[in-house]
Amino acid sequence: IPTHIYASSKDASKAVAIEIADLIRKKAAEGKPCILGLATGSSPKTVYAELVRMHREEGLSFKNVVSYNLDEYYPMEPDSIYSYHRFMKEQLFDHVDIPTTHYHLPGGTLPAQRIQEFCKAYEQEIEEAGGLDFQLLGIGGNGHIGFNEPGSLINSHTRLITLDHSTRAAAAAEFGGLHKVPRKAITMGVTTILNAKRVVLLAWGERKAAVIKGAVEGEVTEKNPASYLQTHGNATFIIDQHAAVELT
Ligand code: F6R
Repeated sequence: IPTHIYASSKDASKAVAIEIADLIRKKAAEGKPCILGLATGSSPKTVYAELVRMHREEGLSFKNVVSYNLDEYYPMEPDSIYSYHRFMKEQLFDHVDIPTTHYHLPGGTLPAQRIQEFCKAYEQEIEEAGGLDFQLLGIGGNGHIGFNEPGSLINSHTRLITLDHSTRAAAAAEFGGLHKVPRKAITMGVTTILNAKRVVLLAWGERKAAVIKGAVEGEVTEKNPASYLQTHGNATFIIDQHAAVELT
């Protein structure tokens, strides 16, 4: 997997924001929508901040952007301070001119018996839109992409998943205790991600170094779902020097 190492996550995030902005403008010039797959968590925050800045200062318009987020906790109210819905509104959507009907996240309040049907429709909608032009990813310390935890198959689709202990533990401080972190989430599948035309994975800091080494230099294995990206022809890892310390 092509891996670009930056001195700082800020420089790296700016480069990613420029790639996304260029794609949005190119699609707009063609009169087409730009279909983005988006991630939450700490890794993409500066990318979103930079896109907001480009909207304010450089006139970058999001009117032709249509987005699908990777995942949402389940159960989760959309206006909860812990929800990925709220995160996306606060980090990006509320600060740009994307129409409110253009962004989509998995539903954290669906009744259990409607989840399967929802997941199928979510994928169908992406396909009917022409597929994801660009998928932004972070990576869990255990190698998860979206919430495809270790053990997720390469042909997995959008579904309800039980979160790993390590994933819940990583979120515990934010939620004010492990017992407050939801046990489940709805996530795009590995196949859903691999079907994107372009994939960019972000990783900052030394706590990601071991899993980055495994994903880039190790075998393709369900033990490290990010390693599946080795099979994608157009995926790039954008990492800082700290996340790169274990690469040979
Ligand atoms: C978030 C997501 C997760 C995170 C990953 C890394 O939508 O799908 O895979 O990208 O847990 O999280 P951070 O960036 O907080 O280290």
